[in-house]
Amino acid sequence: MQTVPAQNRAMIDAGEAVYNDYCFTCHGEKLVSSGQTFDLRRLMASDRARFENAVRMGKNQMPPWNGVLTSEQVEQIWLFVRDNAYQK
Ligand code: HEC
Repeated sequence: MQTVPAQNRAMIDAGEAVYNDYCFTCHGEKLVSSGQTFDLRRLMASDRARFENAVRMGKNQMPPWNGVLTSEQVEQIWLFVRDNAYQK
């Protein structure tokens, strides 16, 4: 396991909490997708803009989160997703 600085760890944990409130029902427990939705663990480090855009604007069956989540919350979810990604 990689060591993550405590401050980052707090952000990741906050991201997990936001994820559990808003994303969990569709994207699955601990990011483990049922196969019905996009598996967020597939996102690469270079997919930050793609992630941000999909979350803010929504995509097909996914609702837009602009105005619901703060920029900080979106950043926290991103760090949580990256912490669990297939490719770090
Ligand atoms: C109502 C169900 C639902 C909820 C809630 C939901 N999503 Fe999604 N999400 C989807 C579906 C369905 C897709 C696949 C969209 C497609 O490609 O057609 C998706 C796709 C995505 C994608 C990938 C888009 C791409 O680039 O292909 C990201 C990133 C994402 N969701 C992030 C989130 C985050 C973060 C949250 C919580 C804030 C969230 N989603 C909440 C249903 C949901």
